[in-house]
Amino acid sequence: MNIRPAKIGDWEVLTDLFTGLIKHAKIISPALKTLDKKNISGIKKYAKKCINTKQNHFLLLAEIDGEVAGFINFQIRDRPKIYTVKKIGYVNDLFVAQKYRKKSVGKSLMNEATKLFKSKGIKHICLNVLSGNKSASGFYEKHGFTEFKRELIKTL
Ligand SMILES: CC(C)(COP(=O)(O)OP(=O)(O)OC[C@H]1O[C@@H](n2cnc3c(N)ncnc32)[C@H](O)[C@@H]1OP(=O)(O)O)[C@@H](O)C(=O)NCCC(=O)NCCS
Repeated sequence: MNIRPAKIGDWEVLTDLFTGLIKHAKIISPALKTLDKKNISGIKKYAKKCINTKQNHFLLLAEIDGEVAGFINFQIRDRPKIYTVKKIGYVNDLFVAQKYRKKSVGKSLMNEATKLFKSKGIKHICLNVLSGNKSASGFYEKHGFTEFKRELIKTL
């Protein structure tokens, strides 16, 4: 397996992966929009924006036999001044294509992101996960993540 930064030529495969991520989330949360052409073009724009990474924003791809198997999109964020910790690592998106799951791709991507955060002096990594996403929750728990905040919703 090869882990490398995404480059502009990867936008097409990344659009597919981001689309896969949203489709996966939609199964768990019906609140998400059904994907149509307009949404896909928005995803394309987002994928391109993420590749053109700014300082402190990173996008890594995992390749197996030359095929992109998954990606991780993460950044260093400033925290509101009220917190004692000023900067945290934040994982925006993590996705592994179905056929490559349970083959340590997610783990390798998370490990690389963690290494990069550590090299930048980051001491905490944060992310959010849909409550119904039991498999990702299991994966994150295995990687030492614990719950520190809950977002609540009420239907009116
Ligand atoms: C969550 C996800 C990234 C995990 O990636 P993966 O490549 O399948 O996971 P790995 O093979 O690297 O697993 C790493 C470790 O986590 C464990 N793990 C993986 N899935 C798990 C699950 N559903 N429950 C508990 N543990 C799990 C593995 O057993 C493995 O443990 P080990 O190192 O002791 O063998 C992947 O399933 C995925 O893309 N899911 C759909 C998208 C998604 O939900 N993304 C997260 C959005 S917040």
